[in-house]
Amino acid sequence: MKNAGKIIFALLCLFMLAILTVSCGQTPRPDAGAKKNAETSFPETVDETASGRDTVADASTEGETNYSPDEGKAEDPARKVGEFDLEEKTVLLNSGYTMPIMGLGTYSLDHDVCVNSVKALLKNGGRLIDTAYMYGNEEAVGEGVRQAMAEYGIPREEIFVITKIYPSQFDDPETAIDTALEKLNIGYIDMMLLHHPGANDVKAYKAMEKYVGEGKIRSLGLSNYYVKELTEFLPQVEVTPALVQNEIHPYYQEQDVVPFIQEKGIVVQCWYPLGGRGHTSELLGDETISAIAKAHNVSSAQVILRWDLQRGIVVIPGSSNPEHIKENLDLFSFSLTEDEMDRINALDRGEKHDWY
Ligand SMILES: NC(=O)c1ccc[n+]([C@@H]2O[C@H](COP(=O)([O-])OP(=O)(O)OC[C@H]3O[C@@H](n4cnc5c(N)ncnc54)[C@H](OP(=O)(O)O)[C@@H]3O)[C@@H](O)[C@H]2O)c1
Repeated sequence: MKNAGKIIFALLCLFMLAILTVSCGQTPRPDAGAKKNAETSFPETVDETASGRDTVADASTEGETNYSPDEGKAEDPARKVGEFDLEEKTVLLNSGYTMPIMGLGTYSLDHDVCVNSVKALLKNGGRLIDTAYMYGNEEAVGEGVRQAMAEYGIPREEIFVITKIYPSQFDDPETAIDTALEKLNIGYIDMMLLHHPGANDVKAYKAMEKYVGEGKIRSLGLSNYYVKELTEFLPQVEVTPALVQNEIHPYYQEQDVVPFIQEKGIVVQCWYPLGGRGHTSELLGDETISAIAKAHNVSSAQVILRWDLQRGIVVIPGSSNPEHIKENLDLFSFSLTEDEMDRINALDRGEKHDWY
């Protein structure tokens, strides 16, 4: 019995030793935890780079310190303000900067769709983006720009972002501008517009003038200002706006307003170039426009956008569809004859589709 007890004790010891050995073999190596951490944090790091989140700080710091205000300014002293360079696909603004003549409108594009549309534009060679406080997507535009800069190697100076402050913000324009700078987070704002006339618009514009002096905004403009509004507004400000953005499409052509603005060396840009959501099918299906499109083997959208460019009007069609975005940039492989321009000019109905 005594021996049996000893044997049982020895067997127990052996059993314990075996358990200990096996469990020692499973003990994680000291570096395994680090590796696990690395594995779990790696995608996050990559994501941060991909989403440009890590360039956020760079962008804002650079905006304050490294971006030279001379970059983006026209180099040819003989170039005239308002003139379209169809090779460079830019127009010279009265601020000295050049601006792309076709781009992307972002009205009604929610965050992810907006990021993807901005990236689709930039990937396909477009460089002009229009947003506004009112669209609620300035953060998304900034994110799309930063991601495209990181992923496609596009320098900030090549990209031109327009945003707008709304009349409800005119009372405290400094806060409005600071908010836009913060939300966009791309260093500086290429152009800021007053979204539409309203109380304190002169006060708001003067604040924007101050930010131009500080290099935080590069060019200024107005939106939804027509002959009467411009006649009253312009004598009250120091910096002549570089651009006016108004509703223009074949059914609402502003044939008197456009030359009135252009004669002042102010560039005209059109919103709702395709008639705006809810109106595009009628416009794109218009018999005259469709016939001209067929003759050039292009789409109705391309014909309308080309008609704008030939009137010296900058286009920012809105789209959430990368194929449309690509198509809307392809406006230089054909041109409209004088007769075709006249036929589209004759479609004017003075039919406004919206106010802002
Ligand atoms: N300052 C102001 O008061 C004001 C007011 C309104 C708008 N805006 C600006 O102007 C921009 C343009 O206006 P918008 O976007 O409202 O209207 P829009 O450009 O006239 O039309 C946009 C519509 O056209 C469709 N579309 C775009 N390209 C197309 C193509 N190649 N073929 C067929 N359909 C096409 C889009 O659909 P998909 O998404 O399917 O491509 C969308 O439904 C706005 O995004 C905004 O930036 C300014």
